[in-house]
Amino acid sequence: AQDFLIAPSILSADFARLGEEVDNVLAAGADVVHFDVMDNHYVPNLTIGPMVCKALRKHGVTAPIDVHLMVKPVDRMISDFIEAGASYITFHPEASEHVDRSLQLIRDGGCKAGLVFNPATPLSYLDYVMDKVDMVLLMSVNPGFGGQSFIPGTMNKLREARARIDASKYDIRLEIDGGVKVDNIAEIAAAGADTFVAGSAIFSAHQASDPHGYDSVIQQMREALAK
Ligand code: DX5
Ligand code: ZN
Repeated sequence: AQDFLIAPSILSADFARLGEEVDNVLAAGADVVHFDVMDNHYVPNLTIGPMVCKALRKHGVTAPIDVHLMVKPVDRMISDFIEAGASYITFHPEASEHVDRSLQLIRDGGCKAGLVFNPATPLSYLDYVMDKVDMVLLMSVNPGFGGQSFIPGTMNKLREARARIDASKYDIRLEIDGGVKVDNIAEIAAAGADTFVAGSAIFSAHQASDPHGYDSVIQQMREALAK
């Protein structure tokens, strides 16, 4: 799979300059904007909602926006993010009372739909909805915060998810989120991921001493993937 996508998580961006931050990572070669929505209920943190997504579209962002819902309940936020210009909307199946309905709502709104699996959430949630997902997102940390370490057991789960996707006849992306760095991205790709969320690894690279930090991290990630 040479079709790799790099998706910086704006959770680690400077929120006071969000539009500029998003422009900069896209100019540095990012493919997708990963947009983490936390509600202080499903996860112990509070971030950004549909108004901010809408503001990024108004600012002129045309790249895909990958909305990762860490909220409960789920469905109301689905409609709001469809309206706010989301491209992908993913949610945690255990946070939805009706997983099939939530997936259908996303697709009916013209967005791509995905399920997100916490480190201990079984992939069996996929059993009866494989035809309704465009993305499977595996969490390699417990959701809620950036800057955590990649949980090694996720490598086997990635292989299992890759096997399920390949065995299905569907075109489904396999995304990984949490602790992705230049030095582990190749191994993660070898285990089957094709879409890579990276927050702290990318945004921490931008310092006054290195105004091209984003370019160099994204470039190094691409080089690691090309090997
Ligand atoms: C965690 C979020 C991630 C987070 C990743 O709940 O879903 O997207 O921003 O951050 P890093 O890459 O720093 O682990
Ligand atoms: Zn995320």
